[in-house]
Amino acid sequence: MLAIVLLFLSALGPVTTIKLEGNGYTDILLVINPSVPENESIINQIKEMIVNGSDYLFEALDHKVFFKEVKILVPPNWTPGTYDRATTETYDKGRIRIDNPHPAFGDDPYTHQTQGCGTEAEYIHFTPNFLLSNNLVKAYGPKGRVFVHEWAHLRWGVFDEYNEKEPFYLSAGQIQPTRCTDKISGQWYEIINQRVQPCPTDEAGKPKSSCEFLPDAVQNTNASIMYMQSLDSVRAFCQEEEHNKEAPNE
Ligand SMILES: *[C@@H]1O[C@H](CO)[C@@H](O)[C@H](O)[C@H]1NC(C)=O
Ligand SMILES: *[C@@H]1O[C@H](CO)[C@@H](O)[C@H](O)[C@H]1NC(C)=O
Ligand SMILES: *[C@@H]1O[C@H](CO)[C@@H](O)[C@H](O)[C@H]1NC(C)=O
Repeated sequence: MLAIVLLFLSALGPVTTIKLEGNGYTDILLVINPSVPENESIINQIKEMIVNGSDYLFEALDHKVFFKEVKILVPPNWTPGTYDRATTETYDKGRIRIDNPHPAFGDDPYTHQTQGCGTEAEYIHFTPNFLLSNNLVKAYGPKGRVFVHEWAHLRWGVFDEYNEKEPFYLSAGQIQPTRCTDKISGQWYEIINQRVQPCPTDEAGKPKSSCEFLPDAVQNTNASIMYMQSLDSVRAFCQEEEHNKEAPNE
């Protein structure tokens, strides 16, 4: 069901856009930062994570969509000859990035999401340790589920569900769009010189584009995939998150 294309080297080219062809997502570019030490297990874990995630997404969305083709851009300094050569993909275009831990967030997987709800996000960040270690599965859930959770941030621009007592935009007094869920599980931060600062908002009350959204480690309801995919019972998005606009035959 899933085709994985391994690429090696990088060159300039047009921005890649994720497409939905029939029921399958294609043109998903995943990049590994050249500063990540070579380890073939990273590639194997990426493949397994996306294959597992594809099944989970397929079930969660009534057999409507799955991951069909992912391109993995392998760093130029990794063993040549093992991988195909990239033609147009470059690191900055990667919508999924494997990179060393963010100084503030360690191995937390996160999605760099700077726009309002409903707008595609910039990229997903996973650390090598998140992929290689199984110690984090207890905290985050199986990797495939984590991938689908982050995918929903990336592709559909949904936010984590959050606690109504701690409104997301409290400092700006902003009201959440109702089609997004309202049970927070995270906060916006801005990192300046490797120090975590509260995220400043622009005139419209939106987080500044330099901010990162990070889910809280501890949550207190069970809701849906955007709430806590690590719960075994969680197998669906809540209705507002179903995104049937992308589902064919809807
Ligand atoms: C994929 O799913 C299988 C079966 O549940 C599991 O054994 C494996 O660890 C999963 N792989 C990843 C990378 O999550
Ligand atoms: C790759 O990662 C695995 C798991 O962390 C580790 O056991 C192995 O030694 C690593 N291989 C290399 C070549 O670093
Ligand atoms: C989720 O939480 C609600 C309210 O606390 C509870 O009634 C429900 O049984 C829980 N569902 C699951 C699947 O844990």
